[in-house]
Amino acid sequence: MRAAMTDVTPELLAQRKRAAASPRRATIADLAPVSRTLARAFATDPVVDWFVRDDSQRDRAMKTWFDFAVTKLGLPGGETWMSEDAATVALWIPPPQDAMQLSFVDEIAAIPTFLSVVSFARLGRMQRLRAAFDANHPKAPHWYLFFLAVDPDCQGQGLGSAILKATLEKVDAQKQAAYLEASSEKNVTLYLRHGFEVTTEFKPEPAGPTLWPMWRKPQT
Ligand SMILES: CC(C)(COP(=O)(O)OP(=O)(O)OC[C@H]1O[C@@H](n2cnc3c(N)ncnc32)[C@H](O)[C@@H]1OP(=O)(O)O)[C@@H](O)C(=O)NCCC(=O)NCCS
Repeated sequence: MRAAMTDVTPELLAQRKRAAASPRRATIADLAPVSRTLARAFATDPVVDWFVRDDSQRDRAMKTWFDFAVTKLGLPGGETWMSEDAATVALWIPPPQDAMQLSFVDEIAAIPTFLSVVSFARLGRMQRLRAAFDANHPKAPHWYLFFLAVDPDCQGQGLGSAILKATLEKVDAQKQAAYLEASSEKNVTLYLRHGFEVTTEFKPEPAGPTLWPMWRKPQT
């Protein structure tokens, strides 16, 4: 079990930063720790909080959602990166694939999964959210940062910046653009520091959470 931040010595923190700065590609063998970090990191995210079911099944729903995202959207593209200790995860979707674009067969097969994640009560929210994401998704080729996550025990210590920088170097080596939707103003600040620019903002519905699409031009 990972040590909580309160137990983290300067040496352990330095080790975690080095691990985040030298990530490796995740494989299916890493599913459990990667999905766990994502579920823990996004437990208080305003967008996830808005569409994932809000009942006694919530913890299971979070695991189901991130298991699905990693196995169906992250791992097939081969660009899901993790620090060796799995405290830090960056799930990129490279071109030409696009986020949440499932084949017809996969879409049908995913219905029971989606229902267990959101429940009937929030199915409409998920549909409006997906429609809003699609409507704002850029047409130009790009790398899509679907999830960036640091375990809550380690946040605010530079780990997220370290894995972002390391994985952006791979995007830059291909002279490609990058895109993401930030889910809080705090996250906007982080991404601005890494060369992303806010293009607009949107909500899936008037009372829903705000998202800030951010674009990073190919670096020359
Ligand atoms: C966002 C996240 C990946 C950043 O990684 P991190 O290691 O905590 O951040 P770093 O230490 O590298 O950089 C700190 C900056 O990140 C931003 N930030 C966003 N959420 C933060 C958090 N919970 N704690 C600390 N910093 C956070 C701030 O801009 C902060 O800068 P500041 O200290 O000047 O305010 C991480 O906090 C996290 O997993 N949050 C929950 C999931 C999430 O929101 N993911 C991004 C979705 S768009």
